[in-house]
Formats: sequence, structure tokens, C-alpha cells
Amino acid sequence: MRNTVFYSYFCIFFAIKIVFHDGYKILGVFPSSSPSHYILGSALLKGLAAKGHKVSAITAFPHNEQIENYEEIPIPKVLESFEDVLKDIEKPGGKSLLQYYNSIMTTGSTLSEKVLEQPIVQRLLTSKNRTFDLIICEIYLNDALYGLGQHFNAPLITLSPMGSSLLSSILSGAPIPPSFVPNILLGSTDRMNFVERALNLAVLTVENIIYQLYWLPYQSKVYNKFFPNAKLTFEEVMMNVSLILLNQHFSISNPEPLLQNMVEVGGLHISRQKQLLPLEIQTFLDKAHDGAIYFSLGTNCKSSGLRMEAIEAMLRVFRSMKQRVLWKYENASLPGKSDNVLIRNWFPQNDILAHPNVKLFITHGGLLSTTEAVYHGKPLLAIPVLMDQFMNVARAVEKGYAIKLSTSQLSSDDIFKRTLTELLTDPKYSSKAKQISASYRDQPLEPLEVAIFWVEYVLRHKGAPQLLSTALNLNFFQYHSLDTIAVVYGSVVLILLLVGFSLKKFVNCIFGCKRISKRKTE
Ligand SMILES: *[C@@H]1O[C@H](CO)[C@@H](O)[C@H](O)[C@H]1NC(C)=O
Repeated sequence: MRNTVFYSYFCIFFAIKIVFHDGYKILGVFPSSSPSHYILGSALLKGLAAKGHKVSAITAFPHNEQIENYEEIPIPKVLESFEDVLKDIEKPGGKSLLQYYNSIMTTGSTLSEKVLEQPIVQRLLTSKNRTFDLIICEIYLNDALYGLGQHFNAPLITLSPMGSSLLSSILSGAPIPPSFVPNILLGSTDRMNFVERALNLAVLTVENIIYQLYWLPYQSKVYNKFFPNAKLTFEEVMMNVSLILLNQHFSISNPEPLLQNMVEVGGLHISRQKQLLPLEIQTFLDKAHDGAIYFSLGTNCKSSGLRMEAIEAMLRVFRSMKQRVLWKYENASLPGKSDNVLIRNWFPQNDILAHPNVKLFITHGGLLSTTEAVYHGKPLLAIPVLMDQFMNVARAVEKGYAIKLSTSQLSSDDIFKRTLTELLTDPKYSSKAKQISASYRDQPLEPLEVAIFWVEYVLRHKGAPQLLSTALNLNFFQYHSLDTIAVVYGSVVLILLLVGFSLKKFVNCIFGCKRISKRKTE
């Protein structure tokens, strides 16, 4: 009897403990120079805070909102030099892929170091009473930061703002067959001809070599410098990432091989509740009886940085149209702007795309923007500028809800107007956008809920080692079965040769014998 009473108390105590769990302490690390990465990261982190977890977020772009259970650890923009890459998005001639790659690699290589040097981060690392149960870190050329997991003795989750790539494959062990998984920077889709596949293989190989020979040793050095008493080596840290959240969804990207600890959560930042638009914008859009166009080149690229000829040409075209235009333009004034054009340095993009009068989105093709456009079923006029934008746009064009223009084509009134008119008058673009929207929205749970489920799963299962693939323990030859292919196929070939050889002898012998016996009977 006494035991039963004790047992019931015990159960009630634990039931209360579960219901009123204080939540876990989670550290989010989103130091990159792109505000869009933190838009994505903070959406997840705020979702976790709303579920009762205590969340801290390292970011270069604090939102400074008062949110329960949510604290921001601001670091100044650690990558000023990276902004130069983005600043003039359209110098005559533009930058080649190689130049971009080079500047991204060189400036990106100092990111982890600069983040860990920040006094506020150093205080966090050395403080005796700061503990975390989980680290969520973005994947963005900052591998040394994964050391924060072992530093706080906590499992590590990564979030890839650009979706799957070589980086996510290195952390998970997932295969990336270059025959149908396009490289982020190449601007191909999964349907590649021979030349594209050859190029894809070459770029993957070069990337892999740069990564293994230059990038990882460098990050390892940074890791050893800032975590001198580390319990795990850098290689062990890289092989112990519990979960990789991917900002993508197969209805917008392409089907590809993923492992169980890679989860697609593309669009988790899109608020599912309709927010009210600022009155002025609401009225402007409500009165757009001939439809409206939303124009934004995202958070990195400034449309005020476009060439003057292009801006003037676009203004002339907008002036000649009945549609109203919302243009995210960063300067205070825009000479020559007609009354049907409204400029602001910031727009609540998601709520604008939700407005039924918005018929078209002129975009740089960033992943957050394309996902929002798909969610709301709006066709795109896409002007990719750098990085993964070329691939995102190539996919949108192939799926049939976008037309691509280059930045130099914007200077032609004729081309710009023709493209706008085609997108606005041919119903196939908007019907395709609506069809893909329907397939994207058809998910068992909303992406944010999916992400939160898996994050909590990792917490509940202490890092969930059951998710990790043993692919991570294999070397190159083992992983690609080159050693076993050599032995197994090698022996088969050997056996076939031997059999063939003996058969030939045998056949020779029979004919030979016949001849001999024939001769005998004669
Ligand atoms: C891997 O991470 C888990 C926590 O997620 C930790 O308990 C374990 O010690 C780590 N092991 C290795 C070998 O890295």
C-alpha cells in the first residue's frame, strides 16, 4: 500500500515535470553576412522559443524584438569585405563564376575566426554558468564553429540556407551523383545534357579537392586555436552532426538522395497567418484594378546598385503600363518615377505576395523569395545575380512559372516590356505557379512544425546517434566501392578469361580429336 502511494506521487511528480518542462537551452549561431540566413534561422529559433525553450541567437543582424524566451547575442557585421562582392551587382561585364568563387572562399575563410574572436562570444565561451543543451548552427563556410557543440557538451544541428550541397553531403555522408544532382553554382537543373554533366562532374571534383586540401585543414586550424581543450577532434565533430535541416522542398527543387538526418524544411520562415499590411500599401494594392507587380532584389543586392540605364529603362516601361508597381528601392528618391510606382527601402514581402492583386514578382531568385512566391502561387521575372540564384531560377524556368533575364537585358525597354507582358497576359505562367503552389503546400505538417519535431527529437534522444550513417566512417575508395569493385569484378573478369581460355582449348581439342579420328577411319 505504502509503495503504491509512493509510486503514485512519483508518477504525478514526473507527469508535472513533463508537462511543465522548463524547456531546453538552445544556442543558435547565424553569423553570416546575409540577413536572409538569419530570417530563416530566427524563424526556427522563435518557433522553438514559443514552445518553451530558452533560446539565444548569435547574429550580425539582430531584429531587436521583445520575445519571451528569446535573446539575441549581437555581433557586428563580421564580414564587411564580403559586402564588397555584393555591392556592385552589375559592373560592366559582371563577375565570372570563378571570381565569385574566389572572393567567397577568401572572405569566407575568415568568418569562423572573426566570430570566435568577438568579445561577446568569448565571454559566452568562458562563462562558468552558461550552458546549452543544443547548438543550431548555419552551414555557410563556417565549419570551425561546429566546435561549439563539443564545447558546451551538446548535440549539434545544422541548417543549410541554400539547401543540399557538397557541404551538407560531407556532414551527412549522402551521395551526390553528378549525373543528376546539379552543383549549386552552375545554374543547371537535374536534366543535364552530356556537356552539362561533364562540367558538373568536373566542378564537383575541383570543389571536393579544394575542400579537402585547403578548406578543411584551414578550419581545423581555427578549431584547434579556439578550442584548445576540445574533447573531440575537428574530424570527429564534422562526423557527429545530429541533424541537417535543408531550406528546400522537392516540389520546388528536384528529387535527390537524402539520408534520414537530412530534413527538408523549405519555407519554414513563411508565416502561415495573414498579417495586416500597412494601410498605405493595402490601399495601393486594393486599388490596383489592373494588377500589381512586386519588385525586389532581396536583402543582399540593392536595386539602387543597378546600372542607371537599366533603372531608367525600367521606369519608362513601368510608366507605360496600367499595372501598379511596388519597388524595393533603397534610395530615398527615384527621379522619373511615375505615380503607379511606389518605392520603399523595405516591404513586408510575404504579405504583399499574399495579396490577390499582385500578379508578378520581379526577383533575384534567392531561395527565400522563390519559396515565398511558390507558396503564394505567383509567377516570376527572375534576374539571378550570384551564387545559388542561377540554379533556383533555372529550376523555376524549367518548371514553367518564370522567365529569366540577365541584368544587362534590363537596359532594353523592348525586352523588359515584352517579358513583363508575356508573364502578365499568358495564363500558363500563373496557372503553373498555382499548380506548384498546391503541390508544395500539400505536406503532412507545416515546415516549421517538421523542423521543431526533429530538433526536439534530437534533444529527446541525446543527439540521436541512430540517425547517423556509417557512410561517414568510410574512406573515398570504400565509399565508392572502388576497392570491392576491383576485387569482385576483377575476379569475375579473371574467371571469365580462364573459362574462355579452357573452353577454347577444349573446343580445339574436340575438333582436333575429330580430325584425328577421321584420319584414323580413312
Ligand atoms: C557525438 O555527439 C554526442 C552528442 O550528440 C556525444 O554524446 C558523443 O560523445 C559524440 N561522439 C563522438 C565520437 O563524436
